[in-house]
Formats: sequence, structure tokens, C-alpha cells
Amino acid sequence: TGLTSLDYGFVNTAPTRSKITFIDGEAGILRYRGYPIEQLAANSSFLEVAYLLINGELPTADELASFDERIRRHTLLHEDLRSFFNALPHDAHPMSVLSSAVSALSTFYQDSLSIHDPEQVELSTIRLLAKLPVIAAYAHKKSLGQAFLYPDNSLSFVDNFLRLNFGTLAEPYEINPTVSKALDRLLILHADHEQNASTSTVRLVGSTQANLFASVSAGINALYGPLHGGANEAVLDMLATIRDSGEGVQRFVERVKNKEDGVRLMGFGHRVYKNYDPRAKLVKESADAVLADLGVHDPLLDIAKELEQIALDDDYFIQRKLYPNVDFYTGVIYKAMGFPTRMFTVLFAIGRLPGWIAHWRELNADPATKIGRPQQLYVGEPERQYPTR
Ligand code: CMC
Repeated sequence: TGLTSLDYGFVNTAPTRSKITFIDGEAGILRYRGYPIEQLAANSSFLEVAYLLINGELPTADELASFDERIRRHTLLHEDLRSFFNALPHDAHPMSVLSSAVSALSTFYQDSLSIHDPEQVELSTIRLLAKLPVIAAYAHKKSLGQAFLYPDNSLSFVDNFLRLNFGTLAEPYEINPTVSKALDRLLILHADHEQNASTSTVRLVGSTQANLFASVSAGINALYGPLHGGANEAVLDMLATIRDSGEGVQRFVERVKNKEDGVRLMGFGHRVYKNYDPRAKLVKESADAVLADLGVHDPLLDIAKELEQIALDDDYFIQRKLYPNVDFYTGVIYKAMGFPTRMFTVLFAIGRLPGWIAHWRELNADPATKIGRPQQLYVGEPERQYPTR
């Protein structure tokens, strides 16, 4: 059938060229548009990184100001979209709420179907960057049974988001600059990671010429799984289970090594990083700093550190090149900021949005793009005859 190789998990398949992100998994290198992640995390802002990923170059001060301004102007959700949240159960997982509402954006902005019109693509880009944090915060508020706030466009991207999550109608919300800075940095660290499962999903859906909102809502669903973005939520559940069970970290590690009930050390291992995940290093620094700044002592952070130490010294993990990944310490930080566990993957989605948008736009601008259509190796029955009864 012309099939040349069987490739479970697309370990050896490159369906595209890309100029967006460079990863060297052996050396632990991650660069967005050529800039090392460490330099971006230290000096940039999430919106600047979003601009860089989407447009290919860092913005000038004026370009950044105008990008920021356009995003602020588009934060409001249509009132009918606000009421759309009422149709969903209050205990829905916020990731499901997020993907449903992003999918619904296509119904409110039907001009987004004009994917070959650059102005429309730019408008859909701005709308999505502006509205996803608001949708995310409403998913959170809904789970609490609290009233939705309207965005306050005098606030920065991250501060607006924090207020929408933690502010109430009853009292003014005070921004904590430590939280704001740390969240901005975490969003930068998540902003792109080349052909991971959710980005590949965005590209595959986009390759059918589906619009940006449809493609990104598919990406959100791909991110939801515990082996991908859902790992940050799964890490915290794992740490809490270790704490509550009283079984001890060493015993838990033994269960992982014996593959009892398929239990894995969540937040460990990566398809491409076989040395260390450079993002994990930066996140770990943040975890210590943020918790110290907020005056939070979380025993789960102690368990995480003990778990990391035991695993890094253990042959099982050494031989398989399993190291902490970006998700290992993020949950502890999000928890200290006050986010419930079920919001963690939603925060990942907000961070990854510029990457998804950049890939969707790169795909559509590339004349070599073809509809994605993998092959298979058929191992079923040969032809047989329908029985005559
Ligand atoms: N705990 C215990 N064993 C593991 C783990 C883990 N976290 N990860 C991989 N292994 C073992 C696996 O059992 C296999 O062992 P064996 O050779 O004896 O069968 C070996 O290591 C290779 O694993 P694999 O599943 O073939 O590796 P992969 O490249 O397909 O999977 C991964 C990568 C990230 C899905 C996997 O490491 C994993 O499940 N990690 C836990 C979930 C997680 O933290 N995901 C977040 C990834 S980073 C951010 C993101 O993408 O969201």
C-alpha cells in the first residue's frame, strides 16, 4: 500500500517544517523563534512572547502597546456567551467548559470562517487571546457558584485574569505583584513546545481548513488528558494521595517501579527531553520563591522534593531517562496562588494559546500544507464472503 514504516505515537514522523520553536531534547534546550527560554522568562512578558511566537519577531514598544490595547478592547464576552455557561452543570470540569465555549466562539464570530483573509485571521487571533482568559475565569467562577465579573480593561492581561478569578462583586480585589509576576512567567514557559499532542491536533484539524476557534478547541481537548497538560492536575492529586495514605514516598516509588495498577510518577518523563526539561528547572526556582514570598508552607512541596530526589537517584528512572517535566512543580505554585486543582490545566491552555495560534497561522501560510491523513497497517480479516442464510 506504499506504507514504509509503522510509527506508533509519531515518534519518527515530521509532518511539517516549522520556524517557531527549537528543542534539543538531549541538551535540554528550548528556544522560541531563536530566543532561549531562560532569557525570555527573565526579561520578557507573556504578551510580548505571544507577539513573538505569532509574528516571528519581538515587537517594538509601539507594536507591543498596540497589540496589548487591541487585546484589551476585545475582552468582553457576548452576553449570550455569558449565559451559555448557565446551560452547563456547575460541577463540570473547567477544561470541558473551556473547549465548549471556545468552540462556541465560531457561532458568535462567523467571520472567523474566512481563513484566507489576513484581517479576519488577525481579528480572530486578538479575539481568542482576549477572550480565553475571561472564559477560563468564568469556568472557575461557575464551579464556585459565584457571579461573573466584567473585565477591567485598565488592568494588564494577567492582572485582569487574576481579578476575574479571585475578585468578587462584594469587595475590590487587590493585585498581589508576586502572584502576577509568577503567573506571567509560568505562562511564558508554557507558550509553545513545537509538535506536542495538542499542537499537532490543532495542526491536523487546521489542515482541513477548519477555522481558528474550531482548531484550538480541539487542541484544548487534546491538552486535557493526564499524559499531556492534565499532568499538572494529576501531580497534585498524586502528592495529596501520598500525603493522605501515609504510605511514604519510598513505598509509592516502589509501586511506580513495579508498575502496580499502571501507576506512573506524574510530572516525570518526556517524549523529547531525555536529559532534563529546561522549563522544570525554571519552575522549581519559581516554586521556592513564590511560596516564600506568599509566606505559604505547603507540605506537598516537601513531598514533591523528596519524590524528585528519590527518583533521580534510582536506577529505574536513570535508565529510562525520566526527569521532572514542566508539570512537576507548577501545581504547587498554582495552589499557593489560590487556584483549585481543576483549574491547573486551564492555566496551561492559556499559556499554550499563542503557540497554537502561531502553528495554525504557519500552517495556513505554508504553500506545502496538505490535509493531514496518516496511513495504517491493516491487520484485520482478509476478504471473506457474507454468509447466505
Ligand atoms: N513514571 C514511571 N515510568 C515511566 C514514566 C513515569 N512518569 N514515564 C515513562 N515511564 C516508563 C514507561 O513505563 C516505559 O518503561 P518500560 O520501558 O519499562 O516499558 C519507559 O519509561 C518509556 O516510556 P514511554 O511511555 O514509552 O515514553 P513516552 O515518550 O511515550 O511518554 C510521557 C512520555 C510524558 C507520556 C511519559 O513519560 C508519561 O506518561 N509521564 C507522566 C505524565 C506526564 O508527566 N506528562 C506531562 C508531559 S510534559 C508536559 C506536557 O506535555 O503536558
